[in-house]
Formats: sequence, C-alpha cells, structure tokens
Amino acid sequence: MNLVRIGDIELASPICLSPMAGVSSLPFRVICRSLGATYSPTELTSARSIRYNGIEKSMQYMRIDPASEGITAIQLFGSEPEDFTCAIERILDDDRLNGVSMIDINMGCPVAKVIKTGAGSALLKDPGRASAIVKAAVAALSGAGRQIPVTVKTRIGFDRNEKGSPDFARMLADSGARMICVHGRTQADMYSGNADIGAIALMRRSVEDYDLAFFANGDISDGLSARRMLDETGADGLMVGRAATGNPWVFDKIRRELDGREAAPVTLDERKRMLIKELEGRCLYAREDIAVREMRGVMTFYIKGTPGAAQLKVALCGAVSLSQVREILFDE
Ligand SMILES: Cc1cc2nc3c(=O)[nH]c(=O)nc-3n(C[C@H](O)[C@H](O)[C@H](O)COP(=O)(O)O)c2cc1C
Repeated sequence: MNLVRIGDIELASPICLSPMAGVSSLPFRVICRSLGATYSPTELTSARSIRYNGIEKSMQYMRIDPASEGITAIQLFGSEPEDFTCAIERILDDDRLNGVSMIDINMGCPVAKVIKTGAGSALLKDPGRASAIVKAAVAALSGAGRQIPVTVKTRIGFDRNEKGSPDFARMLADSGARMICVHGRTQADMYSGNADIGAIALMRRSVEDYDLAFFANGDISDGLSARRMLDETGADGLMVGRAATGNPWVFDKIRRELDGREAAPVTLDERKRMLIKELEGRCLYAREDIAVREMRGVMTFYIKGTPGAAQLKVALCGAVSLSQVREILFDE
C-alpha cells in the first residue's frame, strides 16, 4: 500500500475502523488507533436531526477528540442536500466539533427506517440526489473557508443482482468526493453472503483516473483477506468492520500478517482488561448505568469463543455498573 491522499490529508497504508452504530464509540476508536487503525469515522448521525433538533441531541454520536484520534471523520446521513448544508454549518460552529478532519456521507446503510426516507443505500437509486448532497457538503465546507474533504461510504448496488455501480462511483468523484469506500454487498444483501470483491474492483477501476482515494470494505478479518482485497481490487485503503468488534487487535494482526509476520495471540486476561478500558472510557461521556447498558452488545464480543463465555455473557447482560462488570470478569 502506498501513501494515500484524501484532499490535503496524507495517510500511509490506511487500514481503518469501519463506522458501526453502537460500536464506534470515541473510546473504542482511540483504542483501535493505538493498535494500528489509521482513523475511524464516527457512527452515522442524522443531518436532519442536527438541523432541526440542534447539535446537542446528536453529540453522543458525533463526539471526536482530534488530540487522541489524530484524523477524525464525522459521518452524516440524510436525503436532503439542505440538511447537510445546515448540519455542516452547525458542526463548524461548534468548538467541540470544528476540528474535524473529514465529513463522511453515508450512502450504504441498508436499514429500512433509513432507506424509507431516501437516505443511506437508497441514494444508490437516486444518483441525482446523491450528487446534490455531495455538492452541498463540499460547498458548505469551502464556503466556510475550510479545506475539509468530503468522503462517501457506499455499497456495490441496491438490488441483489447488481455487480457494482461504476457510474455511481464516477458521479461521486465528479461531484467532489475525495474518497469513497465501497462495501462489497448490495442493500438487499444487508450483511449476508460474501462481499463481492469483483464488484468492488469494477468500481475501483471506474475511478482510476480521478483524484479520488478508493477504500474497499467487507469481510476483512486477517492478513489473508486483507491481501486478497488489496490485490483483487487495487484499493488504496481498507475498512474493517465486524471483525474489529470487541477485537481491536485485528488492526495489529492485519498489519503484521501483511508484512509476513505472525500476530501475537491475545489472552483472555487482555481481552477482559480491554473491555474494562473501553467501558471506563464510555463512562467518561455517559452516566455509568447507561454506558454499561449501551456496551452490552459489544461486551460479549470481547469474550467470544473463550471458555465459559456463555455464562459470562448472561452475567454481563445483567450488570448495571462498572464495578459489577469488573466483579463478573475478575472474581469468577
Ligand atoms: C452493527 C453495525 C453497525 C453499522 N453501522 C454503520 C454506520 O453507522 N455507518 C456505516 O457507514 N456503516 C455501518 N455499518 C457497516 C460497516 O461499516 C461495514 O460496512 C460492514 O459491516 C461490512 O464490513 P465488515 O464485513 O468488515 O463488517 C455497520 C455494520 C454493523 C455490523
């Protein structure tokens, strides 16, 4: 992998944490960075909600910390260009957010409640609207005198039989996106089946002559799958999603294995300590019982596949405080 440019931002061998709602908390993103993730966009946040309900309601999804994250990206979703204009203006007006490095636009979310509003992967079926959204975001940023690139995360298509959307990729580049990340599934696939690497490669080739970084995403979990994705798509960078949930070591593993080195095994004790570290981090930003509840879905991933995981999982799901989680994990 070479040096990659997204606007004025230079990244060496980008392997990033793919944005995941409920998973990509600020503490987890910082942990992933310490283990080799290049950067990690926030989870998706509604541009419309920022516009009409103000920034505070969405802050929990958008919180960034450039000092500990390095490169930051806030991901927005929506279907009205004007919502993006307003949301970006509000972000740039907020001292906690205006240090953001990139604005990422979600054009891949397959969830019904998002696509029925014309947002997320529904935009694959409405390229005119998708283009207007990218242009509105680019204009809002440059109008504020900021050199903040706009990036887009999308899929290979909407309908199940689609084998890539090269015109859509070119349209995004023509509209001003500086990086696109393509997940190798269609909306209809949701998360089932295997990522279609050929379809990603088709989209990659379609924008080869553009000043556009291209990232590939889908089913990357180790050096082998990362190597295959890089070789078969020619992508400039990778995003890793589910394989990183409760497993931030995956970035170190992928980097080592790509270099032909072996990854060090992670002990159960290390897993438990990392779970606590993430939870402690979450408790800095949310009331303790809320942080514990919000992390329930993720906690079980830290201990997945270890002896006694099933019992631990049941106990962890009943915990409401940090001390209870500690007791469950360490006083067995
Ligand atoms: C629980 C969950 C939440 C997700 N949330 C988002 C999101 O907020 N924004 C986004 O662009 N993609 C989201 N995704 C999609 C992932 O970023 C990624 O594209 C997908 O999981 C495929 O990559 P993987 O095979 O490495 O997991 C989510 C996926 C999962 C499993």
